[in-house]
Amino acid sequence: MTVTSNAILHAIHSRRSVGKVTDQEPPKELIQQMLEAAVTAPNHHHTEPWRFFVLTGDARLGLGDALVKAKLAEEDDPSDLPEAVIEKTREKPLRAPVVIGVAVQPQPGNKIWAVEETCATAAAIQNMLLAGEALGLATMWRTGDPCYSEPVKRYFGLDEGDELLGMIYVGYAESDPKPRSRTPVDQVTIWRDTRE
Ligand SMILES: Cc1cc2nc3c(=O)[nH]c(=O)nc-3n(C[C@H](O)[C@H](O)[C@H](O)COP(=O)(O)O)c2cc1C
Repeated sequence: MTVTSNAILHAIHSRRSVGKVTDQEPPKELIQQMLEAAVTAPNHHHTEPWRFFVLTGDARLGLGDALVKAKLAEEDDPSDLPEAVIEKTREKPLRAPVVIGVAVQPQPGNKIWAVEETCATAAAIQNMLLAGEALGLATMWRTGDPCYSEPVKRYFGLDEGDELLGMIYVGYAESDPKPRSRTPVDQVTIWRDTRE
């Protein structure tokens, strides 16, 4: 039985990725609350390796330009890329009124594993998504090849060892999302209750 009367469990179970949102921009205080939730994530050695970039309004077009540069860089002959594709790419960040870039900046230290820094930042992202859900916002964690490209990393001012882990699109859902389908837990879990 899944308990969803508890507020946190309810947010976990009701959160969905929502691709289509309205143009209505969520108030800054709600975005701030998402960020406050993000930075409470567990992080080994207290490195706090996450960095956030909140884009609204025309600032989103700067990301669009970086996505275009990434797309052109993928092409053997960039002049082959149709103008319509270029424009569609440029407008991608306009799909939501707020786009939050989340990067991991692995901290120096001989006991610090890069994978753990990535895990901590992914946990921060999930916290953001759940906070968004609790606040009545719709969210979508987006990546794709451009997320890891040089032009996009440069746009966010990331250093060589940093990675952009996602662009979190935030707004208000255009419609109710469909129910989720997941492989039952029993099919992905082994319980061991005796010593072997
Ligand atoms: C690391 C990561 C990257 C993702 N990137 C994309 C993406 O680029 N485009 C997209 O449509 N969804 C992306 N998603 C969202 C998944 O498609 C979504 O979580 C999945 O369909 C399950 O739906 P749910 O989040 O509603 O449970 C990403 C999710 C994760 C965790």
